[in-house]
Amino acid sequence: MSAQPTPRTDAVSEHHMEPDEILRFRASERHMHWAVAIPFMGCYLTAAVLMLAYSSNPQRALHDVFWWSHRVSGLGLILLPAWAMLRHWYDIALHMRNTKEAWRWTRDDFRWLFLMGPSTIIRSIELPEQGKFNAAEKINFMVLTATTPLYIVTGLLLWTHQFAFPAWVLHLTMAAAATPLLLGHIYMAVVNPDTRVGLSGMITGMVSRHWASHHYGRWYKETFPHLHVPHVPHVPSMPQMPRVPQAPRVPRLPALPVVVELSAHRPEPLGQLVAAAAVEAVAAAVPYQSAQR
Ligand code: HEM
Repeated sequence: MSAQPTPRTDAVSEHHMEPDEILRFRASERHMHWAVAIPFMGCYLTAAVLMLAYSSNPQRALHDVFWWSHRVSGLGLILLPAWAMLRHWYDIALHMRNTKEAWRWTRDDFRWLFLMGPSTIIRSIELPEQGKFNAAEKINFMVLTATTPLYIVTGLLLWTHQFAFPAWVLHLTMAAAATPLLLGHIYMAVVNPDTRVGLSGMITGMVSRHWASHHYGRWYKETFPHLHVPHVPHVPSMPQMPRVPQAPRVPRLPALPVVVELSAHRPEPLGQLVAAAAVEAVAAAVPYQSAQR
């Protein structure tokens, strides 16, 4: 008689079988990201040089090098994403899903946005679980998807001298507005210890399972229902903030009815969502402040 395999009953050993890393971004998503990011940064940097070094004196040496580099980068912003899309045509639905996810806001996104800042100081504040992208990333994604076609159209108009003045105003305004987003995005991706862990997701596709479950809890549970949610003993924290002395426990303010009525994942009217999130942010902060007095 052949030996029967012993059924695994020990939960801990089962968890040990689970992977340390999980797939966050597929090749199609990574290629699309860099197909946009590289020409975008090319456009941005060459534009910065043209503005800072040449606007007062266009006759200065190497002007044409930057002038042409800017246009070639702009063409790259059309051609490279188109190439990435065609190369992974079978994943078009995935790009659509990502875009839809970024444009679809729920109460939890607003709560996250309002509470994220205070939570770095008031440790007792728990951030709501996030989907594939957190609210800040959603804003980045939304701005990118809304402005990239406009950069291309206004850039082509400027190049061909059509409606040059309004095109220039819009082109420049969008670039100025993109500056804090771009700097924030790169800071989060490569500098901030708490989030730079995810950089590997845009390079190899794989990220730490612990990190992903902590930062994108809802996405993790929905995408990997067969994996358990790991207990995160320690995730590298934000740049070391001075620790706030433990405040004595004070009962939290009851949430207002409007907050209770809102369902967590159903899109709600924008005004209602903002109001509810603001109320929650204040409610979360009040017990802490009263304990300090
Ligand atoms: C050195 C430059 C850059 C680095 C290292 C970088 C890195 C990353 C990483 C690691 C993510 C995934 C974050 C996650 O796990 O959710 C990401 C996402 C994304 N990146 Fe970049 N990125 C760069 C430049 C750019 C540029 C120039 C753009 C747009 C013009 C851009 C647009 C996006 C968008 C829309 C997403 C998805 C939403 C988000 O996570 O913010 N990235 N990037």
